[in-house]
Amino acid sequence: IQTPFGVPLSGIYKRFAYITIKDRLPVILTKIIDTLSRNKENIADKYGELATEEVKQITGFISRLKSEIATNKTLKPLRLLADDKDNDAEEWNKYLLKRTEIEGETPTWFNTVWLHCECYMYRVLAQELALMKHMKNYDPFEQQKQSAFTNSLTSIEALCNYTMNLIHRAENLSIVETKEELLKFFKINLWGNKCDLSLTAGAEVGQSSNPIEVLKSLDKNILVNNSDFVWNLLRKRNSNADIVDMIFDNAGYELFTDLCLAVFLLASKLAGKIRFYVKRYPWFVSDTTINDFYWTLEYMKNSPNEDLQELAKLSSNYLKNNIWTIEEEPYWTGPYDFAEMKEQNPVLYAKLSEAKLAIFKGDLNYRKLLGDINWEYTTQFTQALRGFQPTNVLSLRTVKSDVCVGLSTGVAEELFKKDENWMFTGEYGLIQTTLAGTC
Ligand code: F6P
Ligand code: MG
Repeated sequence: IQTPFGVPLSGIYKRFAYITIKDRLPVILTKIIDTLSRNKENIADKYGELATEEVKQITGFISRLKSEIATNKTLKPLRLLADDKDNDAEEWNKYLLKRTEIEGETPTWFNTVWLHCECYMYRVLAQELALMKHMKNYDPFEQQKQSAFTNSLTSIEALCNYTMNLIHRAENLSIVETKEELLKFFKINLWGNKCDLSLTAGAEVGQSSNPIEVLKSLDKNILVNNSDFVWNLLRKRNSNADIVDMIFDNAGYELFTDLCLAVFLLASKLAGKIRFYVKRYPWFVSDTTINDFYWTLEYMKNSPNEDLQELAKLSSNYLKNNIWTIEEEPYWTGPYDFAEMKEQNPVLYAKLSEAKLAIFKGDLNYRKLLGDINWEYTTQFTQALRGFQPTNVLSLRTVKSDVCVGLSTGVAEELFKKDENWMFTGEYGLIQTTLAGTC
């Protein structure tokens, strides 16, 4: 069935949601079982002998979850922790009731909205781990995220060298050069989003080309590029504390491009402070948690590569002086989309509005910005945000799911003619902002 325009994506329409629930999520779960079984001994070393029993329990849970997905069972309320204060499980359970009301029956994997069941899968897994005594801090995707970084070292080192050279002469760059470099960093950052491990169901992805050299050849794949508007905003500094918020997506190569963009924004005085928002739980395989962030800096610090060492040092200084902060907000792993933030988490909404610009990285954040609705492709970005505008919003996203707005008339149709799966490949990208107003 064709997804009608104006409704949220769901497994009942045989597009990417269906493929994901049927094929991709089970593969991701199977990979976790494999990782657990391969690492039994390491887990026992790290978390104690008693963790072996927990490995069995969590493996059993994942197997059951897989079969519930395959047989389109209902989503179950999360089991609560004894001390649930610092945990949003009840919020998730409330949301399940809300969806039950909307859908007229308890949501099932294929019938409920895709955004809900896919996020639920990661959340219920995190909850089952949190219920463990020994393995509560276990991240099933940690190794994959770390190899995603180390497998991309060739590109990382090339980009680091480029960035550090630029940082050293940032003070001497002309306005024109600064703008040119900013636009380049947006593109580098955008294409960094191609490397997410959830799209490949956790199969190794690495970036091995020189990211600067390939940029030009990818320009034709940027469907919307509103960079000029962002430049015009950032070049006008209001105060020393001009804040830019970055809502992170993936660890590995993408996170590295985020760090490069962030150091460039500061060195070129386009921002005064940057707040990084990480995920609170292991999420969509490769999303950055606070541990991934620190692991990355530590790896850079201990690398033989001098540029990486220098960038690590610079980063540590920024963190020490609160010019960079890491924010662990629960909203990003909660059940709501972003239009619901004003009502569900007014404190976070107000916090984002302190920033001059909020950069939302990646595909999942884009889906949450748009409410995962099958908008007509020519819908204005601002309209699709449905009132979510705590500040100026910039999305840097490669297209990996079937939602997309802000395209000129006829563009989507042409792309469908060329490749009916163009929305699932990550080949196309958007640098899209509310600042463009009419885009
Ligand atoms: O599996 C669904 C999905 O949203 C894909 O569309 C996308 O590949 C992935 O998860 C998340 O991508 P990103 O890391 O860019 O948010
Ligand atoms: Mg991701």
